[in-house]
This record gives sequence, C-alpha cells and structure tokens, in this order.
Amino acid sequence: MKALVYHGPGERHWESVADPTITDPTDVVVRIDSSTICGTDLHIMKGDVPEVVPGTILGHEAVGTVVAKGDGVTTLAEDDRVLVSCITACGRCRFCKEGHYGLCMGGGGWIFGHLIDGLQAEYARVPFADTSVYKVPAGLSDEQVLFLADILPTAYEVGILNGRVEPGDTVVVVGVGPIGLATIMTAKLHTPGKIVAVDLADARLAKAIDFGADIALNSASEDVVARVKEMTDGLGADVAIEAVGVPETFELCTELIRPGGRVANVGVHGHPATLHLETLWIRDVLITTGLVDTSTTPKLLKLIAGGRLDPTVFATHRFSLGETMDAYDVFAAAAETNALKVVLEGSKHQQLMPAHKRPAATAKV
Ligand SMILES: NC(=O)c1ccc[n+]([C@@H]2O[C@H](COP(=O)([O-])OP(=O)(O)OC[C@H]3O[C@@H](n4cnc5c(N)ncnc54)[C@H](O)[C@@H]3O)[C@@H](O)[C@H]2O)c1
Ligand SMILES: [Zn+2]
Ligand SMILES: [Zn+2]
Repeated sequence: MKALVYHGPGERHWESVADPTITDPTDVVVRIDSSTICGTDLHIMKGDVPEVVPGTILGHEAVGTVVAKGDGVTTLAEDDRVLVSCITACGRCRFCKEGHYGLCMGGGGWIFGHLIDGLQAEYARVPFADTSVYKVPAGLSDEQVLFLADILPTAYEVGILNGRVEPGDTVVVVGVGPIGLATIMTAKLHTPGKIVAVDLADARLAKAIDFGADIALNSASEDVVARVKEMTDGLGADVAIEAVGVPETFELCTELIRPGGRVANVGVHGHPATLHLETLWIRDVLITTGLVDTSTTPKLLKLIAGGRLDPTVFATHRFSLGETMDAYDVFAAAAETNALKVVLEGSKHQQLMPAHKRPAATAKV
C-alpha cells in the first residue's frame, strides 16, 4: 500500500510500504476512506515531537471500513464503517475505566502517527478496536463525522467542559485556528452570553464571526484585556480558553478572567509559561489543562446525527490520498490558502468521482 511516511524533521514521502496485518487478536485493519491533517502533524514535521521515529506513518484522524478483524474482536464485522479517533482506549486500565482514555496506560492514548503507524495511508492497523472505534450511523457522510476524530472533542472537552462554560457566560477564545473555531462551535451548545474571539490574523477572526463569535479582537492592534473588561463591567470574562500554545496567550488568558473565573488551556506548549501567582492567588481562579479523552464522541455524534451540529464547514479543501504531499503544503500555508481542514479521500471516493472533478468544499457556515 501507499502511505505518508515521516523521515525526520522536514522530510516526508508518499511511498510504498508493507500492508498492515492483524498482529493482536483485538486489532482490526481498516481501509482508509477519509483522513485529514492536524496542526500536530506540522509540529511533528518540525521535529517538535521527538517520540515520533523516522519511518512512522503519520495521521491520527480517519473514517474507514473494516476489512479484517482479529479473533478477539466481538462488536465489529467486515464492511463496518468506523470513525478511528486520535485516542485509543485499552478499555481495561484504571484511566480507561474512568473515561480518561487520553491517559490510557494499557497501550492506548494518542498512539496513531505518534507511537505506531498512523492513518494517512490506504490501510491501517487499529489496536483495541472494540473499545476504540465508533460505528458511523447509516446516512452520515465521512465528512460529517471525520472531525470527531480530534478537533471537536478536543475543543469541547479540554475547552468547554474543563472551562465549565455555563449559560450566559462571557467566553473568550484566544486563537481561532481549527481548534479555536471548534471551541466556538461547541461553546454554543452551552448557550454562552457572549463569545469573544482573539487572534492576530484578520482572516481567522472573520471566520470566527462566521462560526458564531459575537466580537472579534485582533490582539496585534487592540488592548484585548481593556476591551474585555469594558464589556464585562470591569470584571473580566467568566472563561478564557487558550487555543494557541505559546506563553503569551496563556498569560493573556489569566489576565482576561474575572475573579473566580476559569482558564482552560487547550494549546500544546513547547516552552515554559509564567504563572503569575503573585496576582492570581487572591482571585480564586481555576486553571485546567489536558489531552483530549474523546469520551464525549458518542454525545457529539448524536448531535451531528440529529442535525444539531454540522462540522462539515471545516472541510475547506479536498485531495485524493495520493495527493497527501500537496495537501500538507496547502494546510501548512493556511495564512495564504485559508485552509481549515483538508480532507484526504481514499479509493472509495475516487471510484465515485475523483476529487478534482467535484466542486470544491465551501467554508460557509
Ligand atoms: N490539548 C489537546 O488535546 C490538543 C489536541 C489538538 C490540538 N491541540 C493544540 O491546540 C492548539 C491550536 O490548534 P490549531 O490546530 O487550531 O492551531 P493553528 O496553529 O491552526 O491555530 C492557532 C491560531 O492562533 C493564532 N495565534 C498565533 N499566535 C497568536 C497570538 N500570540 N495571539 C493570538 N492568536 C495567535 C494563529 O493566527 C492561528 O489562527 C495547538 O497548540 C494544538 O497543538 C491540543
Ligand atoms: Zn490532532
Ligand atoms: Zn487504558
């Protein structure tokens, strides 16, 4: 088969590799029907995630079809369409039993395209299949469910639920890339009073308004803390959600919240950030961090099936799997291409109609 293989910082190739096979009885092998690229893949390409060894197939988000299953798999059959999530659950360890699959100690957690071969490939081996994949309800398209593999549960769990967003709250989302936009989308499930988007890029801020933000502030040209205080009787926001991953934005979030407010950090940080306890200690603040568990996937899937949530607006570009190299270039140049999520389509779609012959996806909400 062909797959996107990481060969060290800055080096990737779409190349022939061995077909995956069942190695453990709890495995399935899926044909990848739709996959996508994550900002984290770009971090890996820069060498920021050293656990990823050269030779690893990248990718941790996909919808596929089961083509083979191990003897220990009891709830899945060949031809089942499944969502393969960024998080794998062994189902047996202490953390899996608590629903904290991201912390799995039994061989799961974030493993695809990280510790084992990933999902930007024609086929993939999926460990712990019974406890890790989700059957796709009939009638839902790949693109309706694909973004449940990472950005939606990440935004909802690590942003909205950790931040304890309540009806009426003023919620500031700092950084409105795909994760920040998914935070805005899922914040609306909790009916906040006001959603404020903060970014340095005007194009991203315009997108945030499309996604339902009430106010967009460019932190390069505006005093964001002063503006948020103005709109909250001088108090600050109830919740600030950090969706960038740099020290400045974390520190900004701690300045944006009211006494008793909450900061939910979603960004992946590569450098230390300063925690200003000298000003925060007396303000009764709550600060949370975390890796997504994907425990809310069934709930979000139900909302999509019921027409309450439509993540298809994230799909701004489509490529065939064989064009994954070009898709990385388009995704990495998001400032120029306005890419949010690029969809990589497997042979199933190509048989229906090749990607380049179909109308481009629109990013209208
Ligand atoms: N915690 C988790 O489980 C988890 C899961 C997935 C992704 N993440 C992390 O979430 C973060 C966001 O992901 P993404 O894919 O949306 O990233 P992205 O890079 O596409 O978007 C980041 C946005 O932040 C903006 N930005 C950059 N610097 C800024 C600054 N100083 N002030 C304001 N805005 C600024 C950029 O213009 C961009 O729009 C990343 O750090 C990613 O690694 C975390
Ligand atoms: Zn990801
Ligand atoms: Zn586990």
